[in-house]
Amino acid sequence: MSYRVAYERSIADPAGFWTEQARAIDWIEFPPTTLDRDSRGDYRWFRGGKLNTCALALDRHVDSGRSDDVALIYDSPVTRTVSRFTFRELRDRVAKVAGGLVELGVQKGDRVVIYMPMVPEAAIAMLACARIGAVHSVVFGGFAARELAIRIDDAAPKVVLSATCGIEFSNVVAYQPLLEEALRLSRHSVNHCVILERPQCRAVLREGRDLDWVTWETASSAVDPVPVDANDPLYVLYTSGTTGKPKGVVRDNGGHAVALNYSMKAIYGVDAGDVFWAASDVGWVVGHSYIVYGPLIRGCTSILYEGKPVRTPDAGAFWRVIAEHRVKTFFVAPTAFRAIKKEDPEARLKSNYDVSCLKYLFVAGERLDPPTYHWLDQILDAPVIDHWWQTETGWPICANMAGFPLHAIKPGSPTLPVPGYALAVVDDDGKPVDANVEGNIVIAAPLPPGTFPTIWGDHDRFVEAYWSRFPGYYLTGDGGYVDDDGYLYVMGRIDDVINVAGHRLSTGEMEEIVASHPAVAECAVVGIEDADKGQVPLGLLLLKDGVNVEPAALEKELVQMVRQSVGAFANFKRAVVVKRLPKTRSGKILRQVLRKMIDGNTYSVPSTIDDPAILPEIEATLRDCGIVGR
Ligand code: COA
Ligand code: AMP
Repeated sequence: MSYRVAYERSIADPAGFWTEQARAIDWIEFPPTTLDRDSRGDYRWFRGGKLNTCALALDRHVDSGRSDDVALIYDSPVTRTVSRFTFRELRDRVAKVAGGLVELGVQKGDRVVIYMPMVPEAAIAMLACARIGAVHSVVFGGFAARELAIRIDDAAPKVVLSATCGIEFSNVVAYQPLLEEALRLSRHSVNHCVILERPQCRAVLREGRDLDWVTWETASSAVDPVPVDANDPLYVLYTSGTTGKPKGVVRDNGGHAVALNYSMKAIYGVDAGDVFWAASDVGWVVGHSYIVYGPLIRGCTSILYEGKPVRTPDAGAFWRVIAEHRVKTFFVAPTAFRAIKKEDPEARLKSNYDVSCLKYLFVAGERLDPPTYHWLDQILDAPVIDHWWQTETGWPICANMAGFPLHAIKPGSPTLPVPGYALAVVDDDGKPVDANVEGNIVIAAPLPPGTFPTIWGDHDRFVEAYWSRFPGYYLTGDGGYVDDDGYLYVMGRIDDVINVAGHRLSTGEMEEIVASHPAVAECAVVGIEDADKGQVPLGLLLLKDGVNVEPAALEKELVQMVRQSVGAFANFKRAVVVKRLPKTRSGKILRQVLRKMIDGNTYSVPSTIDDPAILPEIEATLRDCGIVGR
């Protein structure tokens, strides 16, 4: 089947298309219906089907004679470790950890928060939850205590699984103080914390509440997978929205398994036995879909890499991993290659390794800037494939699909919509725009299987944030255009979400933190272009009347506040005092105009602006600080 036939069939007959894909995985009870609507009118996939995601990822391969094949490779240059887990070994550890959770009182539907670095136990923890029908919520290890507390309060877990530390380059980042602080800040109280003690940092266990991971796992009894409904939640993953409160993106079991299984072959061109590597973190959606669930469900070998693109030990780290483990498809954020390019512009270190095994390089998480694309294209024999997706969708919306003959690559475009996604670009009134005209990127309902059915505990927000602006269409939050050949170009967010080194952050959230400083009357945080990280946040501040502070000292305090509240990875490093902020007459801060002005792009001054003289005034201030014209 050609891409075109597959795509058109998926749009004309979604139920028929996805019933076929559903047959490719093992169900305990095959779903009686593929697509219908629930009492709220929302589309549901595979209602009434029963399955277990952990069994699909592990037991199925053990039972089909692949027990001794390698499921997971843990490659950790920061601890100088490489270890391998066969499907049987991984299944056995997961079954015991699942048993340990049951012994702690965790039942189907209960939540478990996982706050862990990139160690195999993080994947084991996720799969163990899936095995017993518990709902995991993984929190990225770079988040500070306040963010962890917000997630603990929203997910209300019975148990937190954590470790004593993560390792950033050579720095040991202690997790337990952050976890303790988060538990102190949160209103919800958890019954137990299980702590994995790593040799780099000793555990401090609180009697009655905390357990040592190894003792706990060793003492527990293995349990079998339990059947869950296709629509039962598998996990909640929090992502930044436009307000200070993150959104708990819910993933259900059935659609997720079907979509990921399909995507591995159709998009990434891999099948059982192939080695697939996504260099991300289990705390992000890429880690969920393409370090843990997707590759394992498809029967591939997945790599869990605890290292960086550079300085672990050098800019040849990626080439070493690809060559050593014979990676066929590699997936990473462009920012990682920008870091490599900076340290090794001629890619000299690549010649130390045989990377001929690499058939496809996929990049996503942020725009693939053409200079990085051309650099990669020059140094690699494999095609460099940009693809576009979001936490909400859980798997790619647009890609050059390796399961079909590849389309011509156009730098700057993630190519064509993947089967299941009825993509459109509309103007602010919801009318489709012509080719090459920029607008809001939307997707007509129903979204395909695997995409999020709701926001945890807040279905109204799901409807309001994503489905109310253009009824019948999902609002992606991205703007862009489609060219004459149907290729999509994603030009950036149309809301207050920014993307820093492939990490999604809310400027609204940072504004709340900055505005809580006693000297600050008002502030705007905008994402400005950065050659290494894609975007970085910049704070613009108005001081309260009569406040007399040294701007440099205030900036230092604010930078520290954001580090301590959100995390260092937010890269909030500049906060500049201005006299006024540009606003509309109704008082809305013109963030988009500010962003364009700071980046030196052309912008039109909206007719609704309160006072047009403010813009040149701010421009002059920012030029003095070296921000404009950088
Ligand atoms: N735990 C604790 N701290 C973390 C962290 C984590 N998981 N991730 C980042 N940080 C900290 C860093 O240690 C750094 O702290 P510092 O200011 O004290 O030095 C800070 O956050 C900024 O980190 P980062 O923006 O990542 O810059 P860096 O110089 O440390 O690393 C790269 C640069 C390119 C190596 C790194 O950004 C990278 O690997 N990017 C790829 C990210 C990615 O894969 N994103 C895709 C997600 S799908
Ligand atoms: P996240 O939910 O963290 O995966 O971030 C999703 C957002 O990252 C999208 O809404 C886009 O703004 C951006 N993004 C992801 N992939 C791409 C891409 N290939 N090109 C441009 N932007 C991208």
